[in-house]
Amino acid sequence: MRTRLDHLVTSALQQGSAVPAFTCYDFTTALAVVGAAEESGRGVILLVAPKTAATPNGLRLIAALRGLADAASVPVAVQLDHATDLAVMADAVAAGADSVLADGSSLPYEENIALVVAARELLAANGHPDVVLEAELGGLAGDEDRAFSADQPADQSVVAVAGLTDSAQVEDFVARTGAQLLAVAVGNVHGKYKGEPQLRWDVLQDIAVRTHIPLVLHGASGIPAEELVKAAAMNVGKVNFNTELRTGVLATLQEQLPAHRADGENLQALLGHWNRSAGEFAGATLATLTR
Ligand code: 13P
Repeated sequence: MRTRLDHLVTSALQQGSAVPAFTCYDFTTALAVVGAAEESGRGVILLVAPKTAATPNGLRLIAALRGLADAASVPVAVQLDHATDLAVMADAVAAGADSVLADGSSLPYEENIALVVAARELLAANGHPDVVLEAELGGLAGDEDRAFSADQPADQSVVAVAGLTDSAQVEDFVARTGAQLLAVAVGNVHGKYKGEPQLRWDVLQDIAVRTHIPLVLHGASGIPAEELVKAAAMNVGKVNFNTELRTGVLATLQEQLPAHRADGENLQALLGHWNRSAGEFAGATLATLTR
């Protein structure tokens, strides 16, 4: 059943766990993620990248994800991830997104606040006052849609940490934006980590005592399970994954492609492997975050 993202996250936190959110560029991945959630009996969040939502087919994908969420036997929310463009936010919500990350984290502080406020005003004016807004304070390094390994050119290589969230700004930021969830920069990056991830639990703790709204950890790919399980105790109720999910799918497709071409161009069976790869990752992540 489709559910409000903030309710899903808050109720998970009350049980001492966090909800995983997975980027879905396509319906096959989304089917696998929702299937894994149903198997585990836990709720899940489907993320749509802003580049996806900026296209007519991306908006159709959002409508399809909404249908998938409605039909699911567990709570599912559909969120537009990392949006900076108000028109894309309006279109995504009109297409069926329940929630938006209005991401002004790369902007100066006051402009970041102004973006979130403008998003709320626009969505309310369009008849969607109840859309759940996440905001982000402290920019994350890395590309949301692409990840590179150490043997690729230096300018495209693994990602070093950018700035940290300034915990002194948290109360003011949350009050003035009215955000219902807060994404933080605590040593996390999008894509592949340079060396071992070094999460700043001290900064996270400092943020957690300054606001009651749930926190969000982006860039969770590559963070060891034993670290991720600690997050809910710091009020991190939503944990975002993309790189690990699609790396696994692509590796599976690469491995399976020749045999499936030889087997009569068997796309249907190849999609079964795609489903299994995404489903296993989602299932393992759900198990980690709820253990
Ligand atoms: P990763 O690609 O590093 O897992 O980050 C995903 C993310 O934060 C999506 O918002």
